[in-house]
Amino acid sequence: MSQSATVMAMPRRALITGVTGQDGSYLAEYLLGLGYEVIGMVRRSSTVNFERIAHIQDRLVLAPGDLLDEASLIAILREHRPHEVYNLAAQSFVQTSWSQPVLTGETTALSVTRMLDAIRMVDPTIRFYQASSSEMFGKVQEVPQRESTPFYPRSPYGVAKVYGHWITVNYRESYGLHASSGILFNHGSPRRGLEFVERRVSNGVARIKLGLQDKLSLGNLDAQRDWGYAPDYVRAMWLMLQQDTPSDYVVASGETHSVRELCELAFSAADLDWEDHVVIDERLMRPAEVDLLVGDPTRAVKELGWKREVDFPTLVQMMVEADLELLRSQMS
Ligand code: NAP
Ligand code: GDD
Repeated sequence: MSQSATVMAMPRRALITGVTGQDGSYLAEYLLGLGYEVIGMVRRSSTVNFERIAHIQDRLVLAPGDLLDEASLIAILREHRPHEVYNLAAQSFVQTSWSQPVLTGETTALSVTRMLDAIRMVDPTIRFYQASSSEMFGKVQEVPQRESTPFYPRSPYGVAKVYGHWITVNYRESYGLHASSGILFNHGSPRRGLEFVERRVSNGVARIKLGLQDKLSLGNLDAQRDWGYAPDYVRAMWLMLQQDTPSDYVVASGETHSVRELCELAFSAADLDWEDHVVIDERLMRPAEVDLLVGDPTRAVKELGWKREVDFPTLVQMMVEADLELLRSQMS
């Protein structure tokens, strides 16, 4: 029987932390499409921030909780009894991790232990996915980076993700949990947060094209990243939890591009010349930089049957078009 046929025959429940984020919203859509009951953990805030899930909100079960509060995690697991937990919530912006290093450690590192312990106590048969990151490779020890490449994180965020990664491996080995870690390289989409560089550029291009601003300030144009499309990457998360044996997988495009190339493509998608508009702001440089990321997804391709569908130029074009459309609709 195929994997999707198995899912159809036996409805399953999944808990997603970080459901209001980019990946959480796409994963929720994907799992709903597979027939899952999806529980999304949401934290309290003074204003509702459900934009990314508004279109599917009536099909989700929203459960109040916070990664910093273990009792809330235990209560959610007890009440909803998920078969799978996707731990996507994190303080995910690298730059902020220097100004809020302790919060980043609490949320992005220690909270992984909180969730794993909650699973161990409530139901150790729950399958667990940890959102690990290519940022763990940092000052890269090998090119391209694969599952066996040693980590050398370069930010408090990267350090926190290394902790989250190893505690996932440790709970798998200590308690026999079905816990897997996806080492995902950068992935964006029109739902990407405005602070990340590919969205900062697509949004900036759209604003310049529509006459709302003339300049776009950026930091290090030489940084190179392996960018993919978020909906392609959430499929890999699900595939990992369908395997008989839990493990760790690199998910990447296998190509690298500089921020400069990103600018060239994005501005030309709107018939603009990036050199007329981009200015460098030293304040956007990082105390320690990750210069080059490029992943080798061979294992995910071979063992999971994972394949990406959207390449880098298509992603950039899609993001610029989406930002143009969004701004036009806001202006009309
Ligand atoms: P994102 O858009 O920044 O979303 C982060 C999510 O975490 C939001 O839903 C946020 O909730 C939630 N969150 C933060 N602190 C929380 C807390 N204390 N309790 C509960 N929820 C909390 O991130 P993303 O791009 O979707 O990334 C998903 C995960 O993959 C993250 O762990 C990220 O570090 C990792 N990752 C991302 C990439 C990438 O390129 N996108 C690559 C590798 C790894 P609010 O909406 O309430 O703020
Ligand atoms: N954000 C941002 N803003 N980055 C800029 C800018 C700018 O104005 N100008 C240049 N950059 C450079 C950064 O210095 C970095 O080298 C690169 O663009 C990418 O920065 P981000 O888009 O902020 O992403 P990131 O690579 O630091 O982190 C993202 O990918 C990780 C996986 O490698 C995040 O999604 C992390 O959560 C994720 O783990």
